Amino acid sequence: MNPIRRMLVTGGCGFIGSMFIRLELEAHPDLQIVNLDKLTYAGNLENLADVATNPRYQLVRGDIADRELVGKLIGDGGFDAVVNFAAESHVDRSLLDSGPFIQTNVVGTQVLLDASWQAKVGRYLQVSTDEVYGSLGPTGFFTEETSIAPNSPYSASKAAADFLVRAYCHSFDFPGIITRCSNNYGPYQFPEKLIPLFISNALADKPLPVYGTGLNVRDWIHVADHCRGISAALRLGQVGEVYNFGGRQEQTNLEITHLLLEYLGKPASLIKYVTDRPGHDQRYAIDCTKAETQLAWKPQVPFTAGLRETIDWYRQNGDWVQRIKSGAYLKYYEEQYGNRLSS
Ligand code: NAD
Ligand code: TYD
Repeated sequence: MNPIRRMLVTGGCGFIGSMFIRLELEAHPDLQIVNLDKLTYAGNLENLADVATNPRYQLVRGDIADRELVGKLIGDGGFDAVVNFAAESHVDRSLLDSGPFIQTNVVGTQVLLDASWQAKVGRYLQVSTDEVYGSLGPTGFFTEETSIAPNSPYSASKAAADFLVRAYCHSFDFPGIITRCSNNYGPYQFPEKLIPLFISNALADKPLPVYGTGLNVRDWIHVADHCRGISAALRLGQVGEVYNFGGRQEQTNLEITHLLLEYLGKPASLIKYVTDRPGHDQRYAIDCTKAETQLAWKPQVPFTAGLRETIDWYRQNGDWVQRIKSGAYLKYYEEQYGNRLSS
């Protein structure tokens, strides 16, 4: 593979993609990045305001499922690598309407694969999720060998995309790599996911809607650790391989909720138990030994420090949250939580 000098990143205006672009531009002084983003409700130009005028960065507004646009962009782009973050990413939204998830996550991935293959791009990295493995009981971990058994429309669409990447690698010697990561936390996360939703609600003295018993377990990783893993997989990973990333940091949702409340100095009475998420996966836990041994990667951000920094970031960036939590967000919040919180 050629050294990576020019990279197409998709979905770079979202939570993880924006951190990835920032870190890549910092770490590789000769690297040029083009960011293809549709700017859906989750895409936010403010997330990359600090690099907007960097001459090595360019934003193209567009849809990864737009075959003509993507064919031309990748065909003419001279990219050494394509990294696909673009996705509909929220499980609860996929339960309300799975259509956009199929269109972006599955069709969009197929369009990117076709264009990358045609243009003979040197590396294609598909950013995927541990949720494709389904749910664990009280013991055990997901490894790269765990069978794929997605339970939500979101995870099913991500699994379908992973299978497409696998099939292109198998059938065409396509230079694809898949990474699967556990739950990310950190700055700039859209406040519909557990941690930013609960921080922003608590700051506004609003109820924290805990689904079911609150005893579901997630493995949390700081977004910067995930991005460093993607960067390592892109440069050191083997074509056709899958690499799992996780923080080795399992927490029940209630444990997280109490940590947040304690740090914010808010009362436990803000917790409101609401109807469980349909098909709610019980536990995710990642074995990331393969990435640690083959990519010389390991998670670096200690959980408590990372969480505190994240809380401080949301405290200091109330305007960012306020701008998001208006308009279309209110309609979603009412549809998702209206009945649950009023019962
Ligand atoms: P996000 O929802 O914050 O951002 C998604 C971005 O993709 C937005 O900028 C949005 O505008 C863009 N986008 C959506 N549809 C598009 C389309 N059709 N064409 C172009 N751009 C489009 O998501 P995130 O949390 O940053 O997740 C990024 C990727 O990482 C996703 O593929 C997700 O499945 C995966 N992932 C996320 C987590 C997590 O904890 N958030 C964990 C593991 C894997
Ligand atoms: P989420 O952040 O949506 O990530 P994922 O479903 O992809 O793991 O949810 C994390 C956990 O928090 C999950 O077990 C569902 C739970 N949860 C709540 O209890 N209440 C909420 O309002 C949300 C959004 C999530």
